[in-house]
Amino acid sequence: METWSVKNKVAMVTGGTSGMGLETCRALAKAGADLIIVGRNQQKCRKTIDDLRVETGNQKINYLIADLSEMESVRKMAKEFHTKYDKLQLLVNNAGGFFLKRELTTEGLEKTFALNHLGHFLLTNLLLDIIEKSTPVRIINVSSWEHFRARYDRENLQGEKDYAGWDAYNRSKLYNILFTYELARRLKDPKITVNTVHPGWVKTSIGKNNGILAKTVLPLMQLKAIPVDEGAKPCIYLCTSPDVAGVSGKYFDKMVCSPSSDESCNAENARDLWQISEKLCKLQPAMSPRRWQYAG
Ligand SMILES: NC(=O)c1ccc[n+]([C@@H]2O[C@H](COP(=O)([O-])OP(=O)(O)OC[C@H]3O[C@@H](n4cnc5c(N)ncnc54)[C@H](OP(=O)(O)O)[C@@H]3O)[C@@H](O)[C@H]2O)c1
Repeated sequence: METWSVKNKVAMVTGGTSGMGLETCRALAKAGADLIIVGRNQQKCRKTIDDLRVETGNQKINYLIADLSEMESVRKMAKEFHTKYDKLQLLVNNAGGFFLKRELTTEGLEKTFALNHLGHFLLTNLLLDIIEKSTPVRIINVSSWEHFRARYDRENLQGEKDYAGWDAYNRSKLYNILFTYELARRLKDPKITVNTVHPGWVKTSIGKNNGILAKTVLPLMQLKAIPVDEGAKPCIYLCTSPDVAGVSGKYFDKMVCSPSSDESCNAENARDLWQISEKLCKLQPAMSPRRWQYAG
């Protein structure tokens, strides 16, 4: 079995300033990773890396700024990454959000779709050239059990026909799994693995941007939620454990490799979502050595 340790490996975690992302960053920093936290808020990122450096003694903790719901911002950050790093051995696509009301980004995309799915789709594709040169590599996409409630409807990917916050969230988590499986099928090198994880129902800040809901329903719902350090364990397991070396294209319910919904296993849906996402991101197959490039 391949030996795997994150020590000195270049690791990127999106949404590393809060919740399970922060907890995952803490574990990776302690384990000696060369860590990049992706966040949208400069001050929060600065404070997070300062605190983690003091707490863990690891000085190789840095940050890059991106609003993952804005594709232009993702492109800018990926470009900056290319100027600063020549390796990426661990990518954790973790950032996410919940939006009770339908909101559009400045680029006209529905926010849940843009943040939870498209930003990570684009980021991963823009980093594939470096990923391919950095093997062994692990990619982890944080999804949710809630995907079981979602149906794939290509006419309603962004809640164009009808919108309810929970439905949009559940669909976005289905997209995370469809993306994971399709990426696993497309990656030719078995030394690059991609898996997806449901962390459990976890007491984090998710949804707290929704005024009235944040004050009323969420606290009640979170009565049964597990603490953040507990919720981060499955993701940390996928990042660090030698047990999952070589395992790819799988859904983990907490730490157990499990079947995901029938809908998420539909390869036609996955291909369709990939192609639509590619068009929305203006990505197109490129000549070697870069597999994909921005064609906008
Ligand atoms: N909590 C649960 O019960 C649960 C269950 C299943 C799956 N999940 C998934 O777990 C992942 C982490 O969520 P969490 O529960 O830990 O929530 P959280 O505490 O709210 O953390 C979300 C992270 O995403 C970042 N983020 C939000 N919008 C962003 C944007 N536009 N651009 C860049 N970063 C952005 C946040 O940054 P700021 O710090 O700046 O806000 C924060 O660091 C999500 O994918 C979520 O869907 C959560």
